[in-house]
Amino acid sequence: MTTGSIIALDIVIAVLAAASWLAAGATAATTALSAAGVSEPADTADHGRAGTASRRRLAIGLAVVAVIAILARVVTTIVLIRAGWWFAAEKVLIAGPLALAALLVAGPRVVRWVKGGRPPVVALLFAGYAQTAAVLVTVLHGYPVSSAAVLLAFGGVGGATMVTWRLAGPPPGRAVSRAPVVVTVAVITAGLVLVVAQRPAPAVPHAHGSVAEPAVAEPTRRFTLTAGTATVRADGREIEAWAFNGQVPGPPLTATVGDVLEVTLRNRDIDRGVTLHWHGYDVPNSQDGVPGVTQAAVLPGEEFVYRFQADQAGTYWYHTHAVSDIGVRKGLYGALVVQPSGTQVRDPAARGTGIEVIVPVHTLDGRSLPEAVEDTADAGTPVRLRLINTDSTTHRYALTGAAFRVAAVDGVDLNRPSALLNTAVLIPAGGRYDLTFTAPATPVGLFVDGRVVWSTGPVAVPPQAWPVLDLLTYGGSVPNPLPRADREFTLVLDRGLDMHGFLPRYAHTVNGAADPDIAPQVVRSGESVVFTIVNRSLVVHPWHLHGHHVLVLSRDGERARGSPLLLDSFDVRPGEVWKVAFRADNPGMWANHCHNLAHADQGMILHLLYG
Ligand code: C2O
Ligand code: CU
Repeated sequence: MTTGSIIALDIVIAVLAAASWLAAGATAATTALSAAGVSEPADTADHGRAGTASRRRLAIGLAVVAVIAILARVVTTIVLIRAGWWFAAEKVLIAGPLALAALLVAGPRVVRWVKGGRPPVVALLFAGYAQTAAVLVTVLHGYPVSSAAVLLAFGGVGGATMVTWRLAGPPPGRAVSRAPVVVTVAVITAGLVLVVAQRPAPAVPHAHGSVAEPAVAEPTRRFTLTAGTATVRADGREIEAWAFNGQVPGPPLTATVGDVLEVTLRNRDIDRGVTLHWHGYDVPNSQDGVPGVTQAAVLPGEEFVYRFQADQAGTYWYHTHAVSDIGVRKGLYGALVVQPSGTQVRDPAARGTGIEVIVPVHTLDGRSLPEAVEDTADAGTPVRLRLINTDSTTHRYALTGAAFRVAAVDGVDLNRPSALLNTAVLIPAGGRYDLTFTAPATPVGLFVDGRVVWSTGPVAVPPQAWPVLDLLTYGGSVPNPLPRADREFTLVLDRGLDMHGFLPRYAHTVNGAADPDIAPQVVRSGESVVFTIVNRSLVVHPWHLHGHHVLVLSRDGERARGSPLLLDSFDVRPGEVWKVAFRADNPGMWANHCHNLAHADQGMILHLLYG
């Protein structure tokens, strides 16, 4: 079982324990009422006694289920501790003591009830509250454990139990003495004060122009991209989109290493503003296109001119970074392809020495782009498919009819990639893979999630059962003396309750906080930096650091053994722990976020800055 499935199982078990205690308590309460003669008229008393006995059995059975669930949770917690303390901290420090209290209070009383004592209504409900608090701490709070969470969990259970005692305690003597009331109120108040007091100051001083405009030579390639609302056709349907130059995707921008690109961005009528971010292209900070961090969003009628030197070859893409979740989804994106120096800028349609096809996959208003293309390729022609995933979720790609290599990932060539046959590849949100092969005499087809997007003749859908390529063991390794880390950061990804102003929201969090409250990561120029990225949540987080490619060191403790992997977008799946390293060689203030853009929008974005 993967750590991700243990995380899910653990939550299911915890919910089961809470529900069982609560149901046992409620059932016990009905037997207590009928024992007191409250609900049964006299003529149904016999009937009533039989019913009471069966409800008593039911309540005791439920309590037994709860105890078994708690024992099972001991096992899942131990497994999670072994996967990493991040996965288990709050289970050990908060849920554990609460579960233990539930057992100690309810257990002996249930045993006495079995032997003929009174139904332990309040004890069972107390156990239910304690176990409910344990679930809430995992689901709403997570890592790291805060003293506020401890106080609120324990205070909440105490308060609920006192109210229950007052309503359903064994008569007489339902009064609650003053001391526990005072303590509970104090504990809850202290917890609330800490929630407010511990909110970090806004993390990023959002200063503009912190980095001097780099001196860039005269442009050799000029483009203009005008953002505007547009009606585009996809799949035979008209779609209201946001488009660059009236088309989705926007025009592909092409260049050769050494070119100086000048891209003029204009906004015709996108009210919420637009920018251009060069995804995976490690441009100077001032050209990075993050509104509120490196520039202001370009509003309708305005323009912004980007200028940077093309010094990385490979497959990249551009997209708006203003209201990026909506903007990219609605169509504000396009491909950026840079050829190695010495090669000509290609017209995407030109053939010559080989075939190159750019395949930017996107979901536009429920329609899958690009539409299928049937192409021709003479046998022996070299083909390069530049695959770009511009969606917020992973896509599965499969090539049938030819052995292929993954020549490059995220724009960077792999070392000695081997030929692959009948193998699928998973590309994370934002990621790019270049597949290369020599066209055979028979048809070849590229499929995305089982849908053909490019082919050279009739092809059958490849089986879903194909193995998936693991990049960590693909290609040839190089002796790769790791630079000693000068600085290390841990990012624990999760969901949790976050105060957004005074509105609580269920945010996507990093280290227990959501944007803009996540502490920035401060590095110095020249340092080698290591990130440990831990996914405690139940969903995939495609991680993306701006301005730098990161070298993958390990996943779940297993060293990367294939070609060096320099990525800018990688999927951290539930329960996974990735270690990546990079050289701090591009000063500025950089976004570091989940590229499921809805997650980023709901808090999962922080900043790397040079101090
Ligand atoms: Cu393609 Cu900040 O993202
Ligand atoms: Cu995410």
